[in-house]
Amino acid sequence: MPARIIENSNKNIQSEKLIFPPEKEKSMQSHINVESKYTDMYERSLREPEKFWIESAAELSWFKFPKKALKYSPNSELGIFQHTWFEDGILNVSFNCLDRHLVNGKENKPAIIFQGQNEKEVKSYTFKELHEEVCRLSNLFKSYGINKGDRICIYLPVCIEAVCAMLASSRIGAIHSVVFGGFSAEALAYRINHCQCKIVITSDVTVRGKKKIFLKKETDIALQECPSVEHVLVVKKDPDLCEMNPHRDRFYHEEIAKMSPDCSPEPLQAEDPLFILYTSGSTGKPKGVVHSQAGYLLHASLSHKYIFDIREDDRYWCTADPGWITGHSYVVYGPLANGCTTYIYDGLPDFPDPGRCWKIIKENKITVFYTAPTLIRSLMREGESWPQSYDLSSLRILGSVGEPINPNAWMWYYQFIGNNHCRVIDTWWQTETGGIMIAPFPGCHTLKPGSASRPFFGVEPIILRDDGSECAPNESGNLCMKRPWPGMMRTIWNDRDKFIETYFTQFPGLYFTGDGAFIDSDGDYWLSGRVDDVVNIAGHRLGTAEIESALVNHPSVAEAAVVSVDDSIKGEALYAFVTPIRDCIPDETLRNELFTEVRKIIGAIAVPQTIQFTSALPKTRSGKIMRRLLKKIASKKYEDLGDVSTLADPLIIKNLIKGIF
Ligand code: PRX
Repeated sequence: MPARIIENSNKNIQSEKLIFPPEKEKSMQSHINVESKYTDMYERSLREPEKFWIESAAELSWFKFPKKALKYSPNSELGIFQHTWFEDGILNVSFNCLDRHLVNGKENKPAIIFQGQNEKEVKSYTFKELHEEVCRLSNLFKSYGINKGDRICIYLPVCIEAVCAMLASSRIGAIHSVVFGGFSAEALAYRINHCQCKIVITSDVTVRGKKKIFLKKETDIALQECPSVEHVLVVKKDPDLCEMNPHRDRFYHEEIAKMSPDCSPEPLQAEDPLFILYTSGSTGKPKGVVHSQAGYLLHASLSHKYIFDIREDDRYWCTADPGWITGHSYVVYGPLANGCTTYIYDGLPDFPDPGRCWKIIKENKITVFYTAPTLIRSLMREGESWPQSYDLSSLRILGSVGEPINPNAWMWYYQFIGNNHCRVIDTWWQTETGGIMIAPFPGCHTLKPGSASRPFFGVEPIILRDDGSECAPNESGNLCMKRPWPGMMRTIWNDRDKFIETYFTQFPGLYFTGDGAFIDSDGDYWLSGRVDDVVNIAGHRLGTAEIESALVNHPSVAEAAVVSVDDSIKGEALYAFVTPIRDCIPDETLRNELFTEVRKIIGAIAVPQTIQFTSALPKTRSGKIMRRLLKKIASKKYEDLGDVSTLADPLIIKNLIKGIF
């Protein structure tokens, strides 16, 4: 399938011509404080990858240091997707995140600090305490007969227990699959069954503003369909809220209290799988992206160190939920491997008021803050008086991830959160890439609002036209990667063919990201969003095919097409065109039932903002739905419909524009 033509050219962004060079004095303390140092290291990572990565591997602690970094045959038939990193090396990820800090003077340093939505709910663990809790949980897993390679499902809100569960899984060599707490029972059941998890760790309840979300209840519904699950561990917040199955369910804290706080870390091969994380693509079902141990950890920790310019006394807060890749790489693995204090917050960013994030930064003297543009835009709407009422002078670096950051939001972040002196770091990457791929280095790169700047070490991007030829500077095209990097996904769980088909067939010999981008004349990268059927709603990645398949699950729906429209806060919002079955007259009841259907099958995040009923969808004569037209109609860009000559029935367009059913 050829990639779609890029429509979003980012023209308005470039015309801004705003630039923010690094300030010499401040950059002096940076890991990389002059551009030539970045260029030398970057070029060396491409020119002498073997040496570069073996040297970098020394940043990790190994039980057996690897002899070789990358094994891969670029010219073989298997091309870029057949690669291994540090294959003969042996290590343990939880050892790298915990044990090694106990002997280098960090045992009493806070490893993780939790702030609940309720202000009084604060919990802090030193590296020593976190190590103990992880060991206890590892022993509990072992007592349940969970072994190396078994799958562990983690369905929790943002909490220390979620971090412990990930680390305990990695300690014993199990493979975790974290499922975002916003997903429904059905979405959870799919993910549990797909990789046959033996255990689920969940919580009775979590709060979002004034709303309570009952995760254990969702788990119970899911588990009616999940025969592989033998044990459920429940993190208890409110004992009255939870029904327990005496044969299967136990309370997390009661169980781990019975366990020993010592547990030797399992020596693991560098290429053993560390986790599976389900993510949306162009197909109707999510894909289980598999990451390995050493390559992933090295990419996460090295990028965390350099891109956020991490120092010993940093207080680092990334707002991501562990249910997404940012929560894996930049809440848990990257920071903890670097011995950095990581803050987590479970609650709405505007609860009880829009000053909440700024208050947390002030009270904890946060130095590095990493969040998504959607959060910035939603708090920007509330006005600068909120951040201005808090002393944010502790901040040094502000990160952004998950979607393109528009220059207005970038400037607001820079001026009102960073007080015109912080480095704003726009980081581009994906679940599949494991770690940051394109981002400025704070101490040496000139920032441009809206640009993700430069590739990270070992990352070799190329931008191609749909016909596979290389784009000229300033010309938008399809972003691909020319060679493997350590944190690159290794496969799709149980589906090697789909792995190859999804990422390596559009542009043979290259990894296709699914994103559009261009490089400006200075060599800076500008990302413009997806060029496939993946959408990004408030930083959450969803496949339109998944939502369409949820809609057609309703007995009154014959067909559905979902597109995204621009949204000033969420980045993109979902717009669904739905054709009911013959003789069904659609009404508000059907609309509400469809909202409920999507909520039930996927979760609230996937519920379309708008549903437009239509008696037919615009199709080509060969029966293909013309989504590009639907996107324009949903965005009310009627004057710009382009070529409609291939439409089987042009009258449909007129009716759609007029809203006639
Ligand atoms: O379209 C890109 C967008 O998010 C997609 C990856 O989503 P996910 O796998 O959920 O990971 C999100 C967190 C890394 C990408 O294909 N994206 C991510 N970061 C940026 C971005 N788009 C533009 N600029 C970014 N900084």
